[in-house]
Amino acid sequence: MVIGGIVAGGTGSRMGNYSVPKQFLLLDEKPIVVHVVEKFLSCTGIDAIVVGVHKDWYQYMMDLKKKYFKDISRVTVVKGGLDRNGTILEIMKAAEEQYHLTDDDILVTHDAVRPFVSFRIIQDNIEAAKKYHVCDTVVGATDTIVCSENGEYITDIPVRQTMFQGQTPQSFKVGLFKAVYNSMTQEELNVVTDACKMFYLRNHAVYLVTGDVSNIKITYPFDYKMAQIMMESQRDD
Ligand code: CTP
Repeated sequence: MVIGGIVAGGTGSRMGNYSVPKQFLLLDEKPIVVHVVEKFLSCTGIDAIVVGVHKDWYQYMMDLKKKYFKDISRVTVVKGGLDRNGTILEIMKAAEEQYHLTDDDILVTHDAVRPFVSFRIIQDNIEAAKKYHVCDTVVGATDTIVCSENGEYITDIPVRQTMFQGQTPQSFKVGLFKAVYNSMTQEELNVVTDACKMFYLRNHAVYLVTGDVSNIKITYPFDYKMAQIMMESQRDD
């Protein structure tokens, strides 16, 4: 079984002053998270979807589910965790309870604020997770990456060809995720916010799936403006 796990448990503090967290802002008259769930619902490789949402926005998301999704039996909403990995864990627990998953079933986790993910990227994630157990979606860095330990002086400038920017989905086998998550100390969990970094830290080879520059994450108001323009241009095509 392949489950789409939509992480929507954040509050979007970097977006500034909106009345709702960024995943609920409208794009083409529909909340961003609804675009994402619809994309996963239309993807033939995905059997069911679990959305992990901030506890204060649980009822709000349940109302959106009723309003927008015809096939509500394939969409489950759960309360998320304190951080992104915590939300993935809650999604996984709910999926296991509902669908009696085995260790080899797959969870394709995706940010609720990346509405332009393509079917090709989702499908490539499913295939890579089946074959390599865990994968991350990346694009090659276009800007030179400059490292600075203290934010004042350069400490390194790695070779650009070896630098990639992480996107989502990040996909993995259920059994492996649980084993890796359970092996992390609380100290590690406090600093490791990226799911694939947990696998990397435990020496699991994480396969790279090629993403796309259009698979943007809405983080700042500028990204929201870009997303509105991209949505308009898709409508005009
Ligand atoms: N996320 C989550 N559970 C958390 C924190 C984040 O599911 N406890 C999700 C967000 O909802 C988002 C994704 O992880 O879909 C990527 O995180 P980010 O862009 O950092 O979202 P926020 O945490 O909401 O934003 P900010 O860091 O600006 O507060």
